[in-house]
Amino acid sequence: MTSLSPSDPIDGAPGAIEGANGGIQPGRYYGRGIPYLPINGYPGKLIAVEGTDGVGRSTQIQLLREWLEVKGYGVIETGWTRSPLMQPTIELAKSSNTLNKLTFVLLYATDFADRLEKEVIPALKAGFVVLSDRYIFTALARAGVRGVDRAWLRSVYGFAIAPHLVFYLNVDVKTLIRRVLEARGMDFWESGMDLKTGDDIYESFRSYQSKLLKEYASMADEFHFRKVDARRSVDRIQDELRKQVEAFLEPAEKLAEPALVR
Ligand SMILES: Nc1ncnc2c1ncn2[C@@H]1O[C@H](COP(=O)(O)OP(=O)(O)OP(=O)(O)O)[C@@H](O)[C@H]1O
Ligand SMILES: [Mg+2]
Repeated sequence: MTSLSPSDPIDGAPGAIEGANGGIQPGRYYGRGIPYLPINGYPGKLIAVEGTDGVGRSTQIQLLREWLEVKGYGVIETGWTRSPLMQPTIELAKSSNTLNKLTFVLLYATDFADRLEKEVIPALKAGFVVLSDRYIFTALARAGVRGVDRAWLRSVYGFAIAPHLVFYLNVDVKTLIRRVLEARGMDFWESGMDLKTGDDIYESFRSYQSKLLKEYASMADEFHFRKVDARRSVDRIQDELRKQVEAFLEPAEKLAEPALVR
């Protein structure tokens, strides 16, 4: 695998960003980055929670946020397609159903860029914990299923920052189907109906989500996902997330504890 330093060029070199996270320190750009926004040495921490549609990301992020705030951390949350600039456009694009793959990829990338520059980077600079509901891995997984060139897509997202922690809420498709049906039903996009593999939304959901889960699994090692078994209860998942976040944010205090007890 090639490892890149943030200043290495990635343009025009298909595959060059492959494995980028292996050599990229958390908190640094994966690729060329945003040229006018150097980010080295910012005190904030970026924590991404990834996982497929309806797996329980938002539930866990809300609980993490409350817990971190009680502990005294400044926290901001950012989420896929939530940029005020791009959200209406993406909604329009989804409802009109006339978009090609390239335009869709670029709309999502613009949403991501807008939030990165306006929300994430300022928060990292100010020392906040940034909780990201989905990250570029969502784009990579969805585009992978739709046959978009992986090397190209990775170079598009070369301006993204490698998170300090990526939690991947891992689930099997059977459990996911049960959870989604109990919660709210299946929608057009999360069933991959745009791929026109058939008219049966249930079958389409099962097949599309299985493919997405494979895409996520294929990225797990490369991007240092911390896999969390999301088939368990909300509380058990949250316990595990809190333990891992605490060990990451407060390692020195943890080490100091035995000395205090003595
Ligand atoms: N561990 C769990 N066990 C059972 N149900 C869960 C669990 N986690 C979340 N849920 C339920 O599943 C539904 C989806 O949860 P949530 O909205 O957190 O998922 P999400 O991943 O953010 O979904 P979306 O992709 O729509 O943003 C909710 O009704 C929630 O209460
Ligand atoms: Mg959600």
